[in-house]
Amino acid sequence: MGGLFGKPIVTQEEMRTRIAELGQQITHDYRQKDLVLIGILKGSFAFYADLARAITLPLCVDFLVVSRYAGKTKSKGRVKILTELTEDITGRDVLLIEDIVDSGRTLRHLREMLGKRKPQSIKVCTLLNKAKGRLVEVKVDYVGFDVPDQFVVGYGLDYRQKYRNLPYLAVLEQSDEDVPKP
Ligand code: IMP
Ligand code: MG
Repeated sequence: MGGLFGKPIVTQEEMRTRIAELGQQITHDYRQKDLVLIGILKGSFAFYADLARAITLPLCVDFLVVSRYAGKTKSKGRVKILTELTEDITGRDVLLIEDIVDSGRTLRHLREMLGKRKPQSIKVCTLLNKAKGRLVEVKVDYVGFDVPDQFVVGYGLDYRQKYRNLPYLAVLEQSDEDVPKP
């Protein structure tokens, strides 16, 4: 498998530095607030664990497990909630933690769905932003890195449920993998 480890585009060191910066910024912005960090699983798990520990405030952790590929193609895939939150977010300050925003559909759906529960505020922090992939408009408040319109894996992101444990971000090489567009 020639494409096993791909071509690194964001190193472990770069991840560490940027996530520390995001943690500081969020710590500053959420002083005196009732912060609930909502991780969108599975993809956000690595980023989430690092970011949560870089925020030096009392906060509450929660998770949503979603699946996005029921329709196979990027434009038709629908967002399905596989596991719900355990927290009541009414009146609280929600920060959604994503691995990557591509078409924007997942986030748009989640923003709408969670907005109906009347949180005090709702913002989004994504490790990666693939702006070229956008099909629907959606507000993203904090971005770790902008990435090109290529399929990336590692640091939580998968290709067919593999590669999530790579400690850096890589572009999966096409050599012997049939890499699709999501
Ligand atoms: P969106 O709804 O198109 O914005 O898709 C977001 C979801 O698609 C992410 O949470 C990822 O799970 C997945 N995704 C999009 N681009 C990539 C990629 O390059 N690598 C791995 N997963 C991706
Ligand atoms: Mg995913």
